[in-house]
Amino acid sequence: MARTSHDTWWKNAVFYQIYPLSFADSNGDSYGDLRGIISKLDYLATTLGIDAVWLSPFFKSPMKDWGYDISDHTDVDPLLGDVQAAQTLIDEAHARNLRVVIDYVINHTSDQHPWFLESRSSRDNPKRDWYVWRDGRNGDPPTNWVSVFSGPAWSYDETTEQWYRHTYLSAQPDLNWRNPEVVEAMFDVARFWLDLGVDGFRVDAAHQMMKDPLERDNPPAPPDYPRPYKDMGEYDDFIHLYDFGHPDVHEVHRKLRAVTDGYGRDVLTVGEIHIFDLPEWASYYGENFDQLNMPFNFHLMTAEWEVPSLRAVIEAVLWNVPVGGWTNWTLGNHDEIRLATRLPDGHERLAALLLLTLRGTPFLYYGDELGMHQVMVSFAEARDPWGANVEWLSRDGARTPMQWDAGPNAGFGPPGADTWLPVGPEHRSVNVESELEDPMSALNLYRRLLSLRKSHSALRVGSFLSHPASTEDVFAYRRESDSETMTVVLNFSDEERMIDVGRGEIVFSTTDPERQGRCRDAIALVPREGIVIDHT
Ligand code: NOJ
Repeated sequence: MARTSHDTWWKNAVFYQIYPLSFADSNGDSYGDLRGIISKLDYLATTLGIDAVWLSPFFKSPMKDWGYDISDHTDVDPLLGDVQAAQTLIDEAHARNLRVVIDYVINHTSDQHPWFLESRSSRDNPKRDWYVWRDGRNGDPPTNWVSVFSGPAWSYDETTEQWYRHTYLSAQPDLNWRNPEVVEAMFDVARFWLDLGVDGFRVDAAHQMMKDPLERDNPPAPPDYPRPYKDMGEYDDFIHLYDFGHPDVHEVHRKLRAVTDGYGRDVLTVGEIHIFDLPEWASYYGENFDQLNMPFNFHLMTAEWEVPSLRAVIEAVLWNVPVGGWTNWTLGNHDEIRLATRLPDGHERLAALLLLTLRGTPFLYYGDELGMHQVMVSFAEARDPWGANVEWLSRDGARTPMQWDAGPNAGFGPPGADTWLPVGPEHRSVNVESELEDPMSALNLYRRLLSLRKSHSALRVGSFLSHPASTEDVFAYRRESDSETMTVVLNFSDEERMIDVGRGEIVFSTTDPERQGRCRDAIALVPREGIVIDHT
């Protein structure tokens, strides 16, 4: 049974997601690129102190969904560099003890991928069955399934007079994972990047590629149907019984795991699983831990930002992770509204402490360590195809250029260079250079927290137990390893709060970098302060 041991690298790591088009532009063409990322590796490894990066797609793509529409899986898009640059990035990262995990987009390709061009060329093309082609129903699509980005999940193709399925844009046709040739071709893609040295994959849409083989219509959702995730517009009109997560999806993950385990070097697979029923979510570990190493855990992002619901969600997730398994936590990514905008003012610092002291691997999103807010992107500047379909779901505002300095393009590109999305108006103060100078900055808070987590086994791999002294607005929990016991206390209130969690040494405060000293009885926390106490 493939359980995870405590020394598995990804259990001890803190991850940082880079959206490559938005991180650093080395050649002034307005788009971030791989050489730009290489130039910032010292920032990541040394200044910030993270252990691993997850890179969103940088593969050849018509960029209809900004890289999540791949037209050549084993080439790099010219906007971002070339395979040599990818190899250099992997090697340079490894030289700094940084692991590299890349996006593995398996549900679909671009409609410009040679596989699809062949598939659509005739009904008897050998690659016809690599995608999902069906006859319509009296001129209508084969099922009532709605694409995630809204509109029907099927498009009609005049040439062969059939419909093809697409879970996302019509420019992203679904691969047919029930065809063994597709499975092998896609595993060859994984092998290509593993041979180049990547340390793992973030598996895109990892529950979506297997749908009901009988292709039944989804039932309409009643108005009060519970929605644990955000308002998805038209997609929410249906109960998604039949258009994702058919049980044979697990067989795909078992086979993928056999490929990654075959490398014998602790390759990580973390799958994007947007399932909020916890037992079903946890089924993606596999009964014998033979599927994904971890399903991505989005539950913290969907919880109400108040102590009772956060506590309930955290405990529920940890109880549902199978014994011997390991989870992860995240508060932001390239699909969501930026954390600093979602949370009440002043709570970003509590969020940082929570994220970096829970039991499970933290995933940070680029720019959140600076406290970057969602940027208003005007209609004229809009880039996200989802936003073009459903305005409030645009992801542009969370994908704006990383803010390196106070210059006109925030140091994202060479002086005078344009940026593909607008630079956030706050960048004159919210940027790496300025924040390094300010002991109270978000960046210095993250740096202190990363070093705290690194130096305490209790925070990395220790057990988790909510503390009985927790109240409606103060959340306390204990982390305990073989050699250490620590308590984290978060005051969500706008008022001072007293709490007694036993004797110990204060080793961290979100509001006062100098705060330290012994505590014996009850201690006071200022409004929205979080602290860490070492009882060892
Ligand atoms: C999920 C990714 O996170 C999102 O950005 C993308 O648009 C879709 N999958 C389609 O690949």
